[in-house]
Amino acid sequence: MPHRIATAALLIVTSLASTAFAEGPAQPGKAAYVSNCASCHGLDGKGKGAEGMYFTPSPTDFTTAAFAKQSDAAVHKGIAEGKGNMPAFKMKLSDAAIDEVIAYLRTLAPAPAKKAAKPARKKKSAPKK
Ligand code: HEC
Repeated sequence: MPHRIATAALLIVTSLASTAFAEGPAQPGKAAYVSNCASCHGLDGKGKGAEGMYFTPSPTDFTTAAFAKQSDAAVHKGIAEGKGNMPAFKMKLSDAAIDEVIAYLRTLAPAPAKKAAKPARKKKSAPKK
């Protein structure tokens, strides 16, 4: 009966996955954002974190249409290389981790400002957990 067991396992996996989606999409970049970026950029991404409010220019507001228009590549470079009071993160975060944070940044913008998901990103399979 191994076939039956496989079917049962598949059913369990499927129901776990739908439970995860019911709680909202997984945001793997969120933890990295909260621990590395929120002190300056704010938990809501508006650039008003406790540390960030003393900087001129202010930390970038990730909820604006202007930010939503920036390409992932440009944003990636900004995070990896840093700029002014924005620290460089390439020593601390891998390219993949930076991309996860960028995906999270994109969720901070109000819906109309969001860019259409790129086909390349859509291919990613459903989150494992
Ligand atoms: C020490 C405070 C601080 C921390 C921590 C910080 N930032 Fe920034 N960030 C800034 C400031 C200030 C700017 C604006 C820099 C400027 O325009 O001169 C900025 C700008 C940016 C920009 C725009 C860069 C550009 O090219 O215009 C991005 C994207 C960004 N931050 C992402 C992040 C991410 C993601 C993290 C966490 C991994 C992070 N920042 C952590 C202060 C910070």
